[in-house]
This record gives sequence, structure tokens and C-alpha cells, in this order.
Amino acid sequence: MAEVKIGNVSKTFDGMSRPVLRDISFTVNDAEFVSLLGPSGCGKTTLLRIIAGLEEQSGGDIVIAGENVGKVAPRDRDMAFVFQNYALYPHFSVKDNISLGLKLRKIPAAEIESRVRAITEMLGLEQLLERKPRALSGGQRQRVALARALIRKPKVFLLDEPLSNLDAKLRDKTRGELKMLFRKVNGTVIYVTHDQIEAMTMSDKIVILHDGMIQQIGTPGEIYEKPANVFVATFIGTPQMNILSKAQLKALGYPMDGAAAPAPDFNCGVRPEHFELASEPRQGWMEGEVAMCEPTGALTILTIAAAGTELRCSTALKFSPSQTRVWFNFSREHLQFFDPSGGNRL
Ligand SMILES: Nc1ncnc2c1ncn2[C@@H]1O[C@H](COP(=O)(O)OP(=O)(O)OP(=O)(O)O)[C@@H](O)[C@H]1O
Ligand SMILES: [Mg+2]
Repeated sequence: MAEVKIGNVSKTFDGMSRPVLRDISFTVNDAEFVSLLGPSGCGKTTLLRIIAGLEEQSGGDIVIAGENVGKVAPRDRDMAFVFQNYALYPHFSVKDNISLGLKLRKIPAAEIESRVRAITEMLGLEQLLERKPRALSGGQRQRVALARALIRKPKVFLLDEPLSNLDAKLRDKTRGELKMLFRKVNGTVIYVTHDQIEAMTMSDKIVILHDGMIQQIGTPGEIYEKPANVFVATFIGTPQMNILSKAQLKALGYPMDGAAAPAPDFNCGVRPEHFELASEPRQGWMEGEVAMCEPTGALTILTIAAAGTELRCSTALKFSPSQTRVWFNFSREHLQFFDPSGGNRL
């Protein structure tokens, strides 16, 4: 396995005026699992293709295990990848699709056999080994593409939304198994996703991209607890963090004296789970109208309209659908503050 260093990588496609990647720098340590997380179109796939050597960067360097791979062809970079459009060989069976790479590398047949068995069991493909790709569902094809990458022992694994076509239950299961598998083989992994739950549950480190720029690099805990700006704060966490201006906070009647405020002007964020709620009035609490009540099972998501603002909160308390008023509060220690111009954390 190997360390990957991305240094000041930028990319502007030919004929385009706007760069799709701007000054991207981060390091993936040996055996580390790093997610690239961001909304559709932010540049995740482009960056992964540059690391793989399938796309050329406009500037900057990719260094793998100490070697600048600028002049190294994709097949010589010793990376295994699963791309969004997992192209399988249509005339080969599932088994041949999975084992071809090992055959080309002259791995002994007995070892290929045992590795195929282990990986197809893990991904639930044992019954499909003799089928051709056209006779598979989208989710099954995606798992074959995953198996074809996982069966190898490359320097680095590059995965682009490898679970996007699986149903929720299978995705949950495969997510956990992938994480354990990579840990077992000490895999260096760069994992592209727009699914924050995948990034949060699987990663050692998350790189958050927006509009071709890095917004924050951190562990899942750091990114959740100390988001670098309003974009990260509202991108991570569901329902998303409530962002209130100083004026909105005042209109709600939240006590915020000058000493407690970090700057003369600010926006502040409060996560839905940090609300205290009651169906009766409480001394010093704020009051609002229940605009929407969405039970999800263990938690209920309430949308509260108060002082011209909508707030979303999640609670384990049960609310009756007939309830129209609600009293709420949140403590000062749970507030996060952001610069109203630019949105950076204060
Ligand atoms: N070959 C290309 N020529 C011109 N523009 C491109 C090309 N490939 C991608 N782009 C543009 O670059 C931007 C980033 O695309 P990219 O595929 O990297 O996004 P992404 O983050 O992977 O999105 P998604 O989550 O939808 O897969 C997009 O605006 C896209 O339109
Ligand atoms: Mg993509």
C-alpha cells in the first residue's frame, strides 16, 4: 500500500473558461480511508480520474509512494478502481470479469479460485458467477465491478460512488463490510461519494469539495462538530443545521448579551438535535407553531414557525398530530458562529 499526495492540482477542461478544480492539496496516508464528499458537479470524479491518470491536470502534482506519477501511464500506477459507469466486459462471465486482472498478472489458478470465492461470498455474487453482465441488474453489475477491484492488491483503491445502485439494505451491509475489508488489507482508499452517511461512517478523513474547491479536511467528528463554514455546516447532518442571523435570534427572544457574542455581527447555527422541546410553556423558552410534523420512527422531525423564521428540530419525544404550539430552547454551548459575509466560522 502507499501514501498519495495531491499537490495544488487544478483543472480547466479545453474550451472552458471556469476551472472545475482549483488548487486542490491533501495527503492520503498509507492505509488511510479518505472520502471526497461534495454535491453533484463539484469535481469529485474529475479529481479521481486525474489521480488514476485517465485525465490530465492543468496544474499540480500527484505523488504516489514518493513518486511523481505525472509521466506514468494509468495501467502502471498500480491502482484498482471502480468508476461510476462500471464498464464490465460484456462477453465474459461474472467470474471471468472478476478474475481476468489476476490471470493477466499470472497469479496461480488455485489462489485466483480462493480469492474469487472469498470476494463473491462477501458481495453475495456466488449464484451469479456464470452469468453475463447483460443478465444482471444494475446493483448486481455494480457489485461485480466492486469485486473486480477488491480482488486485487494494488497500491491504492479508487472508488467512485461504488454503492449508488444498491438498495438501502444492501448498501448498509456492504458499507460495513467494505470498511472491514479495507482495514484487513490495510488498503489506501480514496472514496468518492455524495452520500454524507457513507463518508461519515467509513472514513478516517473526509475532504469536502464545493465548486472545485476544498472547503474542509478533517475526521468525521471534526467536520460535524467544527464545520469550517456555513456550506459544510449545512451539507453535513440531516435535517440540516438551522442558520439564524443575529436579528432572527433576537426576534425569537433568545437571550444573547454582548459578552456571549463572538463578534458584533454574526450568523449562528444550531443543529436539529440540539433543541429542547416541550408541549407546555416553560420559563424563558421560546414559543412557536408546529408547521410540520414528520415521524421517522425513533425520531420525529418538527418544523417550527416562530418570529418569521422556520426552524427544524428532531426529537425522540412523541408529538400528537393535533398539537399546534410548541415551546423550545437550545443552549449557548451548542451554538456555532459564522461570519455573515463569506460564511466562515468565527
Ligand atoms: N470532459 C469534460 N469536459 C467539460 N466539462 C466537464 C468534463 N467532465 C466534467 N466536466 C464538468 O466538470 C464539473 C465536475 O464534474 P465531475 O464529474 O467531476 O463532478 P462530480 O462531483 O463527480 O459530480 P457527480 O456527483 O454528479 O458525479 C462539472 O461541472 C462537469 O460538467
Ligand atoms: Mg461523479
